[in-house]
Formats: sequence, C-alpha cells, structure tokens
Amino acid sequence: MTHHDPSFPRPRRFGPSGSLKGRIRVPGDKSISHRSLMFGALAVGETRVSGLLEGEDVMATAAALRAMGATIERVAEGEWRIHGVGVGGLLQPQTPLDMGNSGTSTRLLMGLVASHPITAQFVGDASLSKRPMGRVTEPLGLMGADFSGTTLPLTERGLSPAVPITYRLPVASAQVKSAVLLAGLNTAGITTVIEPVPTRDHTERMLKGFGAELWVEEQDGERVIRLRGEADLKPQQIEVPGDPSSAAFFAVAALVVPGSELTIENVGLNPTRAGLFEVLRQMGGSIEELNRREVGGEPVADLLVRHSALKGIEVDPALAPSMIDEFPVLFVAASLARGTTTTSGLDELRVKESDRLAAMAAALTGAGARVSEREDGLVIEGTGGEPLRGSANSRTKTHLDHRIAMSMAVAGLASTGGVEVDDTRPIATSFPAFEALLDGLAG
Ligand code: S3P
Repeated sequence: MTHHDPSFPRPRRFGPSGSLKGRIRVPGDKSISHRSLMFGALAVGETRVSGLLEGEDVMATAAALRAMGATIERVAEGEWRIHGVGVGGLLQPQTPLDMGNSGTSTRLLMGLVASHPITAQFVGDASLSKRPMGRVTEPLGLMGADFSGTTLPLTERGLSPAVPITYRLPVASAQVKSAVLLAGLNTAGITTVIEPVPTRDHTERMLKGFGAELWVEEQDGERVIRLRGEADLKPQQIEVPGDPSSAAFFAVAALVVPGSELTIENVGLNPTRAGLFEVLRQMGGSIEELNRREVGGEPVADLLVRHSALKGIEVDPALAPSMIDEFPVLFVAASLARGTTTTSGLDELRVKESDRLAAMAAALTGAGARVSEREDGLVIEGTGGEPLRGSANSRTKTHLDHRIAMSMAVAGLASTGGVEVDDTRPIATSFPAFEALLDGLAG
C-alpha cells in the first residue's frame, strides 16, 4: 500500500457548515470486518459477509489472507464470499504481508501465524512502523513463535504445535487479547486470557458464532476467557453492523453545529464500544436510540442526534476502553462545550496511528481552542458554544492518522475560519465515504 506516500499529500480545508439534517448510514464496523475475513478464512466452506467495510485496513487483511491460501472475493458492494483453508491450514506467504496503516491487521494476523508452521514478513507504512509490537510478540513468543524484532518491518516464524498459555493482559488491548486467542485456535489444549479491564469483545462473540468452544467468566473482578484449541470453525453468514467509531464523527458534528437534527442509521452499540455516546449524554448531548435491534449478534440502533448546549465534565477513566478510538472527536466536542473537560488514564492514545494526545492538543490549539496536555490526558476549556477561530494559516498535522483528520474536519464545521487539514488520504483506511457523506449534508 503506497497510498500514503508522504510526497503526495492531499490537503483540504473544512469550512463552517449550515445545520446537518437528514439520515445517513455509516459503513460497516472495522473490528468486525477484520474478524469476519479472518474467521471465514479459517472455516472450511463458504462464509458470506454483508456490510463489510471496504476500507484500506480491511483490504490489507483480505490481501494477507489470500497470500496465505484463502479465497476471498467481492460479490457486490459490501458483499463478500470467503472460502477458508481450515484452522491449521494457512500456507506460507510468498511475498511480505503489507499491512499499510493497520495495527489490527498486523497484531491479529501475527496471532494466526504464531501457531502455523510458516514464516511471514510484516511491513507497513511510516505510522505503523513506529507502533509497538512487543505487546504481541511477548505472549506469542511464550507460545513458541519467533520474531526478528518488536517494530515493523519484522519476520515472524510460527510454531506448530504451539504451546497453550495463560496470559494476563498488561495493557487494556483487544488486539493483544485477540492475537493470543487467534494463536490458540490452532494450539492443542486450552489457551486462557485474563482481562483486568474489559475491552471490545467481538473476537469472543464471533468465535462462538463460528462454533469454537470458548468460555467467558468473571473471577475476582477480572474477565477470564478460555478457548479450546484445534477448533473446527463452521462457515457463517455475517451481517456487519455500522461502525460506532465512524458514527462518532457525525454524532459530534450534529451536536456542535446549531440547528442540526441528524439520524445515523444502523450504529453498533456493543457496550464495549459505546462509551462515547454515554459521555456525550453526560455532557448534555441529545442522542436518542431508535429501533433497537440485533444485527450479526451485536446490539444496533439508529441514533437521532440534535444540536445541544454541551457542558464540560470530568470523563471517567474507567470508560476509556469502551471509547478508546473516540477521544480525538470527544476533544473536539469538549472544545465547544461550556466549562472544563478533564480526561485521564489515556496513555494508550500515545501509541495509536499517531500520538493522539499530542496530535489533538496541537491541532485544536492551532484552531483556537484552549487545551493543556498532561501525560495521560487533555484538559480542555470550551468556548461555551461559540465557534472556534479556525486554523488561520496553519495546516493541521494529521500524522497519517485518519481519526485526527476526521476529527479536525468536524472542528472545521464549527469554526468561523475553517480548518485546513494537511492530508485527507488516511481517511480511506477506515471510512472512504466520509468526505462525500459530509459534503452531502453540509453542502
Ligand atoms: C481494535 C482494538 C483497539 C482499537 C483499534 C481496533 C480491535 O486497539 O484502537 O482501532 O479491532 O481489536 P487496542 O487493542 O490496541 O486498544
């Protein structure tokens, strides 16, 4: 993936907007899309997926799985067909696996490779090549895999049979949890992951759906997940719900742009993902859940969001894992609220696609917001609903981070002078239709 060649950025100014009204639908959930392809690739027979997110990150997962023997075909928009190789059946890839910008592809696929007798080389873009992989190479190393380093590019040599482990997560990370469980799929015996702090549970839900034997229980306030290895996954029909992390940008946009009344359809509201909506309500945001239902084993609703006078709050750090990707856009909401918003416990934000605390502090300050950066969070003094000044002549640096770009686009809508973003290309990693949707509403 060379889309993010730093020599050809695509800058854009996001100007102030009129009210956002109507109905939109956000694309499929990124986490669930990755897992649909991976589990489909390990099931013998045909898995069908509808509503798959066709963003660059998920396409990187598809390409890697094809390189390891799975057949993955697009039938129509969002409709995909997968013929898997069976657990244990992944083949030696003949070329390096290009992970682009995608940490989820990298860490979960490292888990799969760990218990197969194959060697894979993982490469990625400049952002991904800075991100820590030691958090997965450490437990996967305990299972028997061998790694040439702890950042990309790196080579992984899997081991079969691998050794089942019991692993207590030292960081609250669904990617680390999933890497260990995925390695456990082709490992004889029981692989156990202990989560002191619950993180998104799509891997657990979907593995059960595919027929794996997996048990989750609470023990002394921790989540204990056990998986029986040498699993036999059965092909499935999967409908991917809309991504709450993509809905987040439009929810905040509607809250902060006066006169807005926007319905966002088909938003996944798994409790391990829905923290942002709770926090926005605590800030006084009007967000109604309509037509609650279940899609693909996940709770889903349409969100009706109305412009609201937001007030600053102290965000409970216990909610952080359930909204870990939504802090950049929450910081935008806080910049426009009345009073102070304090966030803490967010060390993990420093190792996302960019250092999101530093990147958002700089970006919002550049747009006229009052922000102070602490080691583990931001403290933001809001305007009380007045628009931000805008980024004047400075270009907001997005550091190859889609969520910084989309968050600052939302800030631009609620500014007088607009916000100039240095590069919009990374948006295609998770939400290729973002600009078209926004232009359709605001234009
Ligand atoms: C993801 C887990 C989170 C999240 C990422 C997707 C997943 O990462 O930030 O966008 O699909 O498991 P961490 O596990 O590193 O917190």
